[in-house]
Amino acid sequence: MLNIALVGVGTVGGAVADILEKNRALITARAGKNIRVVKGVVKNATRQRGDLGFPLTTDYREVVEDPAIDVVVELMGGVDKAFEIVSAALRNKKAVVTANKAMLAYHRYELEELARDLPFMYEASVAGGIPIIRALRDGLCANHIESIRGVINGTCNYMLTRMFDKRVSFDQALKEAQGLGYAEADPTFDIGGFDAAHKLLILASLAYGIDAKPNDILIEGIGHLTDEDIAFAEEFGYTIKSLAIAKKVGSKVSLRVHPALITKKEVIAKVEGVMNGVAVVGDKVGETFYYGAGAGGEATASSVIADLIAIARGETTPMLGFSYGFDSQLTLAAKDDITSKYYIRILVEDVAGVLAQTAAVLAKNNISIETVLQRKKRVKKEWANLLLSTHIARETDLIGALHEIAELGFVKAPPAMIRIES
Ligand SMILES: NC(=O)c1ccc[n+]([C@@H]2O[C@H](COP(=O)([O-])OP(=O)(O)OC[C@H]3O[C@@H](n4cnc5c(N)ncnc54)[C@H](OP(=O)(O)O)[C@@H]3O)[C@@H](O)[C@H]2O)c1
Repeated sequence: MLNIALVGVGTVGGAVADILEKNRALITARAGKNIRVVKGVVKNATRQRGDLGFPLTTDYREVVEDPAIDVVVELMGGVDKAFEIVSAALRNKKAVVTANKAMLAYHRYELEELARDLPFMYEASVAGGIPIIRALRDGLCANHIESIRGVINGTCNYMLTRMFDKRVSFDQALKEAQGLGYAEADPTFDIGGFDAAHKLLILASLAYGIDAKPNDILIEGIGHLTDEDIAFAEEFGYTIKSLAIAKKVGSKVSLRVHPALITKKEVIAKVEGVMNGVAVVGDKVGETFYYGAGAGGEATASSVIADLIAIARGETTPMLGFSYGFDSQLTLAAKDDITSKYYIRILVEDVAGVLAQTAAVLAKNNISIETVLQRKKRVKKEWANLLLSTHIARETDLIGALHEIAELGFVKAPPAMIRIES
């Protein structure tokens, strides 16, 4: 028997309890023992929830201090309180399963130190139902990981898919996502790129042994994208995805989340709607790809239960994929240490010499133009959007050039830029 406590019996916790019951025979056969929910911890114990089949409490000490409980399954979310509860569980020698990417983004190394030889599993924290943690920690562990590129925020991907397929505006796409329950009332966390960044940091620890926090990496949301950007992308065979990217170059690893133009031929460009996809390149295996539901109670619970089964089977895997105390020789690249092709959008007064002067500033900053398009902006007939793409350039050069371009007399708004991922 494996006795567990659910700290959080909401969307995911409720689905875990439900699936453990509905698939009990199968799960017991696979785990080699019965997995039983002994108690649940919630915020509001008086709320009507139907017959769960186990008692509820609001005091987490009742489970972390109960010698009968083997595993504390943290499914409440948030950072500080969850960290307090999980730390207390580990101090009391409980195994832990969690789906909490926010807590892990900030505290995974402290938790690793507390856990040491105790099982600590978190498959559901990245890309919901996709076994991407297991892929990096186990399946690909003979490889140096060269890159990871993930579409790992369903809200952003749903919105971008709608903006491409139906040409709806950003605001309309957001309204639809909220209506369908894919976006929170305050969507900043998703559309600002922070949710994907938390997940990327977890993947970066497994792939590279890198301890980075959200503030250390480049995080850019999708809020500045316009219908002109979509049209440009379409015209040149690209789509736009919010990508979480980890790339190893020599002894440096670049970690970043931002919207990117990506050719439609790439597998990851085909990840649509709320689905998630992650492409991982290993030095020996080449490119591998993982696709599936990134959220939703049942898909996420599927990963939580896989972790519980692993614990029931007695699997002992180092929490972050390396033996405790591993000193990675890799270091985090600076936020602006990026070379890329770029797409640039500049709102200009439609007068003679605009392109020549813009090109001169770019050339002075070591940037050469690949393609140019000029689109009239409908709101003012004498204004136009100048849309450019560049050859590979250094990001610091590009930022410098955009600052100079913003100062040119005919430029009507700060230029916008999107990286082209190739
Ligand atoms: N939903 C998904 O699709 C999904 C996907 C991947 C990962 N996750 C992660 O899974 C975790 C849970 O998400 P969820 O969607 O299931 O959340 P949820 O539906 O809001 O449920 C949260 C649960 O935690 C309880 N809770 C909240 N604060 C608490 C506190 N201070 N003390 C005790 N209990 C508390 C709530 O109690 P009450 O019931 O009394 O309110 C509720 O039962 C989060 O870390 C989330 O990031 C979710």
